[in-house]
Amino acid sequence: MKIFLDTADVAEIREYAASGLVDGVTTNPSLAAKTGKDYVESLKEICALVPGPISAEVLATDFDGMMAQAKIFQKIAPNIAIKVPLTWDGLKACRALTDGGAQVNVTLCFSAVQAMMAAKAGAAFISPFIGRLDDIGEDGMTLIRDIRAIYDNYGFKTEVLAASIRSVSHVLHCALAGADVATIPTAIFKKLLDHTLTDKGLAAFIADAKKANVTIKG
Ligand code: E4P
Repeated sequence: MKIFLDTADVAEIREYAASGLVDGVTTNPSLAAKTGKDYVESLKEICALVPGPISAEVLATDFDGMMAQAKIFQKIAPNIAIKVPLTWDGLKACRALTDGGAQVNVTLCFSAVQAMMAAKAGAAFISPFIGRLDDIGEDGMTLIRDIRAIYDNYGFKTEVLAASIRSVSHVLHCALAGADVATIPTAIFKKLLDHTLTDKGLAAFIADAKKANVTIKG
């Protein structure tokens, strides 16, 4: 499963991209607002840091407005993926942009039928929001499994990009359900390697080596 960072914070992306484990980045208007920086300028910096797809979300809600904003984003770098909402105008823009050779990420997906329609519009990525479904008492993970089944039934090439991830357990279950990508807030990305037995084991190795004066000589 590919791992994207779900943030528009350039400093955070710089720090975690250095791990070599970041395959892409997703941003949205709320994440951009948190940075207090110009959205297009941030995207330029992010595209230079991570070679994988960088999702840039349109603010317009009508077809013409989305197409105009997509043009601005496309000038930034070749690794930009245009993010459009799952609406009739969004899917119309998705089809037009895809036909023009762009990668499109269709966002705000909350049902498997919506995901099927996005695939029919040629989306490169569909973004089902797991956490927000859990927040209202539904099961976000069921949505990932349902989309996976529909896409596999018909051979849709659209990648399932699990979004709105709230925990390490979400990441585990996305991988088990066959999501192609999980986009992860940095607070959760940091926790992906955590295990108390890893920490305890490493401390014991170091202490034992020190006690017996084990060294590695070249
Ligand atoms: C990413 O593409 C989505 O916009 C993001 O994961 C939404 O996350 P949230 O539900 O925590 O705002």
